Amino acid sequence: MTASRYDLLIAGGQAVTPGGIVPADIGVVGGRIAAIGAIDRSAAGEVFDAKGLHVLPGVIDTQVHFREPGLEHKEDLATGTAGALLGGVTTVFEMPNTKPSTLTEADLADKLRRAKGRAWCDHAFFMGAADENAEKLGALEKLPGCCGVKVFMGSSTGSLLVSDDDTLLRVLKSGTRRVAIHAEDEPRLLARKEIAEKAGKPHAHHDWRDVESAVLATRRILNLARRAGRRIHVLHISTADEMPLLAENRDVATVEVTPQHLTLAAPDCYDRLGTYAQMNPPVREARHREGLWRAVAQGIVDVLGSDHAPHTKDEKSKPYPQSPSGMPGVQTLLPIMLEHVHQGRLSLERLVDLTSAGAARIYGIAGKGRIAVGYDADFTLVDLNARRTITNKWIASKTGWTPFDGAEVTGWPIAAILRGRVAMRDDTLLGAAGGEPVRFVDTLPRQ
Ligand code: DOR
Repeated sequence: MTASRYDLLIAGGQAVTPGGIVPADIGVVGGRIAAIGAIDRSAAGEVFDAKGLHVLPGVIDTQVHFREPGLEHKEDLATGTAGALLGGVTTVFEMPNTKPSTLTEADLADKLRRAKGRAWCDHAFFMGAADENAEKLGALEKLPGCCGVKVFMGSSTGSLLVSDDDTLLRVLKSGTRRVAIHAEDEPRLLARKEIAEKAGKPHAHHDWRDVESAVLATRRILNLARRAGRRIHVLHISTADEMPLLAENRDVATVEVTPQHLTLAAPDCYDRLGTYAQMNPPVREARHREGLWRAVAQGIVDVLGSDHAPHTKDEKSKPYPQSPSGMPGVQTLLPIMLEHVHQGRLSLERLVDLTSAGAARIYGIAGKGRIAVGYDADFTLVDLNARRTITNKWIASKTGWTPFDGAEVTGWPIAAILRGRVAMRDDTLLGAAGGEPVRFVDTLPRQ
């Protein structure tokens, strides 16, 4: 008996490659892509029949909050990553507003240790920026397993906050990798908080945290980034008004939008979902949603992130504005966006640009983000014709709810392959939790 040339062959699918969507078999050796083209099935140890499916590079969600350590009643690394993989997401970048906040080398080491053997998908962790670690960030961002630095300019869930220009400049001058920014202007949020308190209902959320709060902060951080000569990535843009600003600053800034800002709109979302639609920055009127779609079409948007921000139903039931901001989203990112593909709002190629190639480009991910020989064999296999209904029951998050409960979609993740192993198929996780830390081109270790 001769040894197989390939450990795994993904046969007969439509591969979404950098050169377009092509019928191609993909051969995998040692967890990496070894060949793309017509490959004989007899050359493989294991064959995954992908007939009728599109083979996407593994979907990367560059903004999730999995809450561990310290907030495990909301989510943990096991449940969060299980939801990711069930939704076709093979890599996640996790945010630092845990308890404690991720501020030191020891905090990062703790997260990496907790993820080992429990994370279902590949992962990396952000360092939080704070006054106390500003000068250390240049060294911290180079640690293996770190995807970069995150700055909260406006306070949201947790205590992380850098709101004044002097500290922001110190942060931006410390290090070289791209810095992820939550851009809402804290002084303005504080000055307007009573709008929320007086209204007592989430319909006021986008009035309290208004368009100007977002525009002000984005304008400030663009100026500071230029002064510091530092690349930034502005997260979850929620207003049409920020897009022209960002378009003028493509040399220093990349742009994220979320599926929920592209899908929901005020006031309908607050009528239907109440505080379950409350997040920061807020979901706004349809005019903004349309502005975000225009920016997707014009290439201003670089990446989609879910901002998976789980809070329990009990917490969300508190009267507004004591109710916390955020909604789960890692598991629904792809199905919701496939429905938009089905509706003709974006092409499958553009979706892949936003969920894989964009993430790799922004953060300098080593060996992920496209279907190419030598890259990690991470794939998300989707059936563009599968009609499904998203339900709370399907959600693996500890919170057990999604703002998209009851939404009908056409297009579904049928399987996820993680470095050559079929890790999810037909809504079921397979084998053991085998997620590994992501590698980055800026921080590859010397050998
Ligand atoms: O709505 C939000 N929730 N926005 C954030 O920036 C943080 C997040 C959370 O962690 O709950």
